[in-house]
This record gives sequence, C-alpha cells and structure tokens, in this order.
Amino acid sequence: MNSKDLLPDIRARLGVVSMGQERGSESKPTVRVKEVPERDRRRLLMHFLALGESDRLLRFGTVLPDELITHYVQHLDFARDTILGVYDARLRLVGVGHLAFAPREALPLVASATVKERVAEFGVSVSESARGMGIGSKLFERAAMHCRNADVDTLYMHCLASNQTMMHIAKKAGMQIHRDHGEADAYLKLLPANPGSVLQEAVEEQVASFDYTLKANTRAALKLLGSIPGFKS
Ligand SMILES: CC(C)(COP(=O)(O)OP(=O)(O)OC[C@H]1O[C@@H](n2cnc3c(N)ncnc32)[C@H](O)[C@@H]1OP(=O)(O)O)[C@@H](O)C(=O)NCCC(=O)NCCS
Repeated sequence: MNSKDLLPDIRARLGVVSMGQERGSESKPTVRVKEVPERDRRRLLMHFLALGESDRLLRFGTVLPDELITHYVQHLDFARDTILGVYDARLRLVGVGHLAFAPREALPLVASATVKERVAEFGVSVSESARGMGIGSKLFERAAMHCRNADVDTLYMHCLASNQTMMHIAKKAGMQIHRDHGEADAYLKLLPANPGSVLQEAVEEQVASFDYTLKANTRAALKLLGSIPGFKS
C-alpha cells in the first residue's frame, strides 16, 4: 500500500452520499481543527479584522467594515452554532469556519432537499499567510462531520461564483452547485451518523484540544523563562 492509499478520499470520510471522481492527494501539514469556545471571541475578531477587502467580500458577500465585523463577532451565537478554528503556535486563529444552524424553512433553496428539521450553512476564512495548506478543506470536512453527527443531512454554502478556490473545495467534496447572477449556492447531502463518525469527531476534537494545551503551555513556559533575569531563549 503506498502513501496515497493511506489518505482516504475526502468524500468518503465526509459520508457524502454521491461519490464522484477519484483524485490524488499530496502530503500537507497536519491540520488540527478545534471547536472555538466563546471566550475566544477576541481571537475571532482579530482573525476577521485581519482579512483584507477582497477576502471580506468573498467571505461575507460584501466588504464589511470593521464595525460590522465587530458586531458579527459580538453576536455569534455559541449556543446555537458551532465555530471551528485552527490555531497557530501563538494561538492565533488562522482559520475559522462558522457552521450556522437554522430551521429548514429559513433556507428555501435547500428546504426541499431534506426532511430534517434543521439545515446548516457554512462560511469559512483562512488567514492569507496560512493558505494552500489544507486548512480550508479540513474546516469544511470537519463541519460536514459535525453536521452528520448533529442529525443534519444538508450542508449549504453561499459564495461568489468567481471564488475559484472555494468552488474547487466544494467540487472536491462533491457539492451540488447552482450558479446564478455571479453567485453560487452549493449544498452537500450527508449520510446519517454512525459510531465511526461520532468517534472520529470526538477523537479529532480531543487531539486538537491536546495540541492547543501543548501550545498554551509552551507559550507560558517561554514567557516564564523570559522573565528570569539573564535568561535568553
Ligand atoms: C477559500 C479559502 C477558505 C481556502 O482556504 P485554504 O486553506 O487556502 O484552502 P485549502 O488549502 O484547503 O485548499 C485550497 C484548494 O484550492 C485550490 N486552489 C487554490 N487557488 C485556486 C484557484 N484559483 N482555482 C482553483 N483552485 C484553487 C488549491 O490547489 C487547493 O486544492 P487541493 O486541496 O485540491 O490541493 C481561503 O482562500 C479564504 O479564506 N478566502 C477568503 C474567504 C473566502 O473566500 N471564503 C469562502 C466563502 S464562504
């Protein structure tokens, strides 16, 4: 078995109903996705405020000014939605996925595609310096798994049709894409949860939490050592 065989196709891991074309996978750094707790609102704000105008347009559909980004972050509903994040060694959020849950009537475009009570809408952004490393794809993959385990079988995404990177990620995951007037609506049908998907999500979250704690402890230790007179790191 070669290394490519060891990297299962993303769609199979997502539990996507329709399997599409097979594709190869290159080795990329390991990306750990962790649920972002409410106490990290400030880190979320810093992530979004660092997005440039064109990225804000791609992420929010409009060039959101700082005040509205602040409002968006302040009003994120952590009890209803799930915020997924990727932290760097300095615990800055370099990738954020917002999985917003809503009653299916709220999204008429996908309402007929499901009999479940809720659907989920996904929005994602990755810091410019961290792109092309698989973070956006991994956030999407984890969001799909979370939906599956939360008894949601339809994951929806709205973006500009010109957003080639996101279109690539959507196609790679096997999303159905509808283009209209320069905008694109994409949705993904997911299989029901099974013990494997529940376990996989729990393990991924544990590993990411451990990784986070390790980074936090390393930072704290370096800070402590740095405060010792004469110590140079
Ligand atoms: C879209 C975005 C989240 C992608 O994040 P990322 O971490 O760079 O994505 P990944 O590294 O996982 O994947 C990028 C994939 O797109 C491909 N890609 C990059 N630029 C591309 C382009 N111009 N056209 C087609 N594919 C492209 C890469 O080759 C890679 O493919 P692969 O996984 O098959 O190798 C990031 O670019 C971003 O934050 N953009 C601004 C906000 C945005 O557009 N959000 C989406 C709207 S909700």
